[in-house]
Amino acid sequence: LTEKDLEGKDIIITAGPTIEAIDPVRYITNHSSGKMGYSIAKEALKRGAKVHLISGPTSLKPPKGVDFISVNTTDEMFKEVGKLFESCDILIKSAAPADLKPKKYSEEKIKKKQLDKDTFKLEFIRNPDIAEHYGNNKKNQIVIGFAAETNDLIKNAKSKLEKKNFDFIVANDITKKGAGFKTDTNIISIIDNDRIEDYPIMGKEEIANIILDKAVKISKNKS
Ligand code: PMT
Repeated sequence: LTEKDLEGKDIIITAGPTIEAIDPVRYITNHSSGKMGYSIAKEALKRGAKVHLISGPTSLKPPKGVDFISVNTTDEMFKEVGKLFESCDILIKSAAPADLKPKKYSEEKIKKKQLDKDTFKLEFIRNPDIAEHYGNNKKNQIVIGFAAETNDLIKNAKSKLEKKNFDFIVANDITKKGAGFKTDTNIISIIDNDRIEDYPIMGKEEIANIILDKAVKISKNKS
């Protein structure tokens, strides 16, 4: 029987990609399937937490019992986290929000004629960094981040840990087989201010429980 060690805890989990529309037909996004975030939501529910799952578009079914909030854009995800952040105990940022959005959304479909040149320039502007904002505005909340890297995994993850003021960061090298986007497994290192723990390839649900174990430990130390 699963121990209900998250009973009474309010957890926000962000999952999946976000999408940024260029025109009514086209958009930019990334490869996140939502599997990592949905696995954390499912396991947190089993352990007795109240779970808010804020998700970009995925093909997954939200686990029964979560407070499911569907979003498209990074701005929307930012806003939805904001509504719940003050009263939450833990925020887990497993989503892959688009960092950029087109500077100008075209109300009309961009015509083939305009695209017929050899190159087509589209200007982008930066989206808010959700994790950085809430990490740096936390009071008693535990904020857990992810780092999706293709190189210098530990160095880049450490710098995100610091910049975004996470309690700890879950680093995954998305170029490794069986890790990162879309797979049912992942290969992670968990990094906090004291140590780095490397884990072998594991199912995303097992990884979810390792992350939640560490959150429970931090929460016990806080109270
Ligand atoms: O969804 P899956 O297919 O299962 O894939 C899982 C995953 C690869 C998406 C997941 O394991 C993962 O690594 N998620 C984080 C992806 C990401 O955006 O990483 P990043 O290194 O670009 O960002 C660092 C942190 O800042 C992340 O916690 C991210 O959620 C957050 N962030 C990033 C950009 C932004 N504008 N706002 C943010 O909050």
